[in-house]
Amino acid sequence: MHLLTRLSLFFGAVLVLASCKNTPPTNLASESLIPKPVSVTATGDAFELTSETILVGDAAFAVLADSIARATGFDLKFTEEASPKSGIFLTLDSVDQDLGQEGYTLVIEEDKITIKANAPAGVFYGAQTLLQLISKPGEQNKILIPTGTIRDYPKYEWRGSMLDVSRHFISVADVKRYIDLISHYKMNVLHLHLTDDQGWRIEIKSWPNLAVHGGVTQVGGGKGGYYTQEDYKGIVAHAASRFVTIVPEIDMPSHINAALAAYGSLNNPDTKFPKEGNYMGPAETRGIVDGNSKPTDLYTGMEVGWSTLSLSKPATLQFVNDVIRELAEITPGPYLHIGGDEAHVTKKEEYIKFINHFTEIVKANNKTMIGWEEIAQADIDGNVIAQHWASEKHAAEAAAKGAKIIMSPSKKVYLDMQYDSTTRIGLHWVGYIEVDDSYNWDPTTRVEGITRENVLGVEAPLWAETVVNMTDIEYMAFPRLIGVAEIGWSPAEGRNWEEYKIRLGKHGRHMEGLAIDFYRSPKVNWSN
Ligand code: ACM
Repeated sequence: MHLLTRLSLFFGAVLVLASCKNTPPTNLASESLIPKPVSVTATGDAFELTSETILVGDAAFAVLADSIARATGFDLKFTEEASPKSGIFLTLDSVDQDLGQEGYTLVIEEDKITIKANAPAGVFYGAQTLLQLISKPGEQNKILIPTGTIRDYPKYEWRGSMLDVSRHFISVADVKRYIDLISHYKMNVLHLHLTDDQGWRIEIKSWPNLAVHGGVTQVGGGKGGYYTQEDYKGIVAHAASRFVTIVPEIDMPSHINAALAAYGSLNNPDTKFPKEGNYMGPAETRGIVDGNSKPTDLYTGMEVGWSTLSLSKPATLQFVNDVIRELAEITPGPYLHIGGDEAHVTKKEEYIKFINHFTEIVKANNKTMIGWEEIAQADIDGNVIAQHWASEKHAAEAAAKGAKIIMSPSKKVYLDMQYDSTTRIGLHWVGYIEVDDSYNWDPTTRVEGITRENVLGVEAPLWAETVVNMTDIEYMAFPRLIGVAEIGWSPAEGRNWEEYKIRLGKHGRHMEGLAIDFYRSPKVNWSN
């Protein structure tokens, strides 16, 4: 045989051998996990997951075990008896207190996988990491999972996203899918923007017309909708099973037209209805005339800041008290969000009185009040939380008054902003936000006067003026949202786009596995 032929056969064989050797995933440290764990130690072997693998854990983890089983495609057995030597073990264990209530260890050995945590949330997050390590069964119907140890816990206690269900109504099923997706990326808060000028989306039993009339339309004039209190309780329960707290927002004193359209008793002359976008609603659901106070029309446009409640109307405080009371009753989580943004037609003295009143009423209902950063103008203190979105001045002022801050800088994390000028939906009033823009920032250095001690965490809002359905939601949220999830969970040290974009590119396949319809940014080399 010719020497060159022999050489090429030899090197060819080496290549084949090398690629065989590299095929099984045996390096845990090179897996493309998002959010990036605090520490990963690889030991270079693999656990062979087969249809015979047993899941072991307390009955409380049966649902979680089922999600792991489904991801494998095998019909895996779940047992509460800790007898098998081999298997996947989901265990509560208070050995490592430094992990807190959300941290976990995931130890992958050749014969077993063990998730340990101090509290159920930690077991849940450990399982989410494991789910990212499970690929489709390969040859011989085995899934190989690289061995090693992951020790992991969150940086911030608040890791959230917001859905605006007012501008376009989003079904209960879609909200639940969104909860599934954000919790998979270890986010623990879903803020629901339940009311705005265009639609009131939550049943309030003492003011039924809010939802029945205030919920009949949306931006563009389409059919709106609302959640009954039973629907809402279903969302809350679904979220709780995934360690997500629902934070309901009733936006006041502005962004309130849907209420003014439902009850003439709330309407007032300070409201400046835009010239276009009015909508009367079906005759049988019209707003209620009160003496000579007529309700406004419903609104289907996109302008902001033109509506307001007024303290000059006797019904106003009764409305505020009833809405907050009913919402508190159906919300087990500790927070109520009262909005407070863009009150452009509310007189400043009146705005301050409103926010002070909301603070008292929310407290009287045993909840912690959250408001957008404009609430810094009122008499707030360390018992309330302010959400930064646009004004560094207001955000810093809120922090100086002792409020904890949720960081949602619109230039970085507003998920409704277009990626670039070709994005088929979305707005761009803060500019375009590519995937690297939304990843490249840090909550502790973003605003002068706001440091680590002030920051409760991060939240990525998805406003819905142009976002109509779940396809739109996923396209605008992903993949930016999972970068924000990483900012919320992972240590900031060493974070950089060059490393992340490679991990994200490889992680694309996992998002495809979750059937997420994500934006394939040209800044990322997506592997397929
Ligand atoms: C906001 O974007 N108006 C909070």
